[in-house]
Amino acid sequence: AGDPANLPPNVADWSRYLGEGVAVRAYGRPSEHESHVIRRDVEWLTASRESSVSFTPLHELDGPITPNGLCFERHHGGIAELNPQDYRLVLHGLVDRELVFTLDDIKRMPRVNRAHFAECAANSGMEWRGAQLNGCQFTHGMIHCVMYTGVPLRVLLAEAGVKPTAKWLLLEGADASGMTRSLPMEKALDDCLVAYRMNGEMLRPENGYPVRMVVPGWEANMWVKWLRRIEVGDEPWYHREETSKYTDLLENGTARKFTFVMDAKSVITSPSPQAPINHGRGFTVISGLAWSGRGAISGVDVSLDGGRNWRPARLDGPVWGKALTRFYYELDWDGSPLLLQSRARDETGYVQPTKNELRAVRGLNSIYHNNGIQTWHVTAAGEVENVEVS
Ligand code: MTE
Ligand code: CO
Repeated sequence: AGDPANLPPNVADWSRYLGEGVAVRAYGRPSEHESHVIRRDVEWLTASRESSVSFTPLHELDGPITPNGLCFERHHGGIAELNPQDYRLVLHGLVDRELVFTLDDIKRMPRVNRAHFAECAANSGMEWRGAQLNGCQFTHGMIHCVMYTGVPLRVLLAEAGVKPTAKWLLLEGADASGMTRSLPMEKALDDCLVAYRMNGEMLRPENGYPVRMVVPGWEANMWVKWLRRIEVGDEPWYHREETSKYTDLLENGTARKFTFVMDAKSVITSPSPQAPINHGRGFTVISGLAWSGRGAISGVDVSLDGGRNWRPARLDGPVWGKALTRFYYELDWDGSPLLLQSRARDETGYVQPTKNELRAVRGLNSIYHNNGIQTWHVTAAGEVENVEVS
């Protein structure tokens, strides 16, 4: 209702003439009125855009699936431009037969469809020492959840024949950063996918076109994009991304390493700082996302008073393992200020901790794996800010 003159019973101008025909937009795009729903970056965060991150606009989305064009991006050396004709995946090392796959070879192998979240280990990392960024897009937006189509990694490994001494794999990307991570064989044989489609269509260039590794429930840094080489070995490689980065320096001077699993976490996406309550008191829907790298979400509780009292939220839509799960809490808001929190629980019984509980165990040096409970302060005016309660 942009123009009051167009409100019923007037006949809107757009109903007097024919609209655009089919295929005028050969590839569909969102309405021009939704142009604010975009990935955003934080300029001061990194020195260059080629090694930076953009954030998923979680506050503008609903349901469990992230649209392809809104999936956060994290590149260490910019977006690699791969030509599917020239694409090759090398599988070598402790195998009976060293193999080179083309994209067509991979597409001819048995495939599966699985929805999984990919969360950067650094998601919420800027919040470790206290509330900082104003919006769930920035505090929690290094996550996306899409339906992947791909070949189970174990199928490729079976084709090559893995030697009995093989314990680890090296995954290597074809981008300028040559991203490399060591992956334990047990996980490789469990649920990893060599994926080439997201939400039905081929991967987007920024997400690893034409092939990326999907490592369900584990930190997204291991989800190597533009995957070009898998080496089979008997021990980890201790590359940069698993020593200097993606480890957590503890107070006693030692560092946690190989912290692969993303523990259960949740966030209220609406209301949130970028999505205030603008209708005043009355019925409103509190909505959010929960996920766990250990399996399915079994429940989410919501608190209106900074964690003193908890009420069960309603899970809605598919509850897939290691995927984003949507929750709702319907509220007749009386207009009084709120300290909104959500707390996720997964099928292993693990309960999302408070930020202070995390700090008590991990100290203050951490960046990665901050799955602490988020607090939003909702004012009487409906504005929302990022705060912490002790
Ligand atoms: N793979 C390659 N080849 N190069 C990269 O820079 N970044 C990693 C991982 N895989 C990266 C990569 C990191 S840190 C994350 S969080 C995810 O990819 C991001 O995946 P996305 O860009 O699809 O969101
Ligand atoms: Co990352």
